[in-house]
Amino acid sequence: MSKTIAVIGATGAQGGSVARAFLKLDGWKVRAITRNTSSDSAKKLASEGAEVVSANTDDEASLVKAFEGATAVFAVTNFWEHLFTGSSPDESGEKEAEQAKKLARAASRTSSLEHYIWSTLPSAKGATNGKYPVPHLDYKAEVNDWIQSDLPDLHAKTTYLVLGFYPNNFANFPNLKPFELPGSWGKWVQVMPTPPSAVIPVSGDINVTPGLWARQIIAKPELTKGKFVDIAPEVLSFGEMLKIYGEVTGRQTGYLQVSVEDFTGVWGIPGKEIADQFTFGEQFTGGWGSIGSISKEDLGIKDDEWPGFKQTLESLKDQL
Ligand SMILES: NC(=O)c1ccc[n+]([C@@H]2O[C@H](COP(=O)([O-])OP(=O)(O)OC[C@H]3O[C@@H](n4cnc5c(N)ncnc54)[C@H](OP(=O)(O)O)[C@@H]3O)[C@@H](O)[C@H]2O)c1
Repeated sequence: MSKTIAVIGATGAQGGSVARAFLKLDGWKVRAITRNTSSDSAKKLASEGAEVVSANTDDEASLVKAFEGATAVFAVTNFWEHLFTGSSPDESGEKEAEQAKKLARAASRTSSLEHYIWSTLPSAKGATNGKYPVPHLDYKAEVNDWIQSDLPDLHAKTTYLVLGFYPNNFANFPNLKPFELPGSWGKWVQVMPTPPSAVIPVSGDINVTPGLWARQIIAKPELTKGKFVDIAPEVLSFGEMLKIYGEVTGRQTGYLQVSVEDFTGVWGIPGKEIADQFTFGEQFTGGWGSIGSISKEDLGIKDDEWPGFKQTLESLKDQL
């Protein structure tokens, strides 16, 4: 009999990747969860074979219903939707944590559940003794601790998945996308509140890697339950990434480092949130991603299976 994976965020980047990976996997059915079953992405998932159901992470009862009979659940929350619709960073984090707790409580009430994958991030506050808080990391991390303390049975079935920086941000994250600077003789410039030498863990193509990792996490439960897994197959500096962007696009590039204050002055609250993350990242010369988690080699993921930074930009060339 087929098993079912219920996927939160199936119409988006991480969940979409998980849904597509399991649609291809023998013995699995995909239940794609969305607020709007008639969106184009929901209809596409249905045409590819997913069962598309409606639920909202603000409504725990809808999640309990959507998880019914599922063997596995992939759960993600979207801090940025709250921030870009006017909530402050702390309000966004509080809303995100509330949604994450509803997801976890609903999963803990699902008697058929064997594996819960919760897409999270590490605590910036915790890693820096409170010196560099970053709400879109810290509120997710608080939920990690809460699952361990308040839902121990769910913790025993949970893999905490930590995603690195998406290469795809170069195509679609408004404050990070390079742009042609007037008067610069055709240079494509990235304005950044961190030095070009600062490094960050990078996730590989976000449309592919979460699905690949989730497939292997579920294939190796003895290794992954109750554990953290990073999707950070590369650690790159921002200067290196812009250089690769130049190679892929054939454009001349320029890296314009500005202060956190100036970046915030231009980009507002989302700018401050990004700048704070990068300032936190500067405290870790090897990248902050590796928190003693299970490696891709342990998971049995081969290097030719995950599209890295350069390959991802090549596939996104018409959106850069
Ligand atoms: N950008 C990066 O480099 C990076 C790196 C690591 C982690 N992250 C984290 O990734 C998360 C976002 O994930 P993503 O990139 O996959 O987002 P995304 O592509 O914007 O997709 C968001 C998904 O969440 C669903 N969703 C949002 N609110 C919902 C609700 N109330 N109820 C049910 N579903 C809801 C949406 O579904 P519908 O609209 O169809 O309902 C959509 O499928 C953020 O929290 C961010 O911090 C980002």
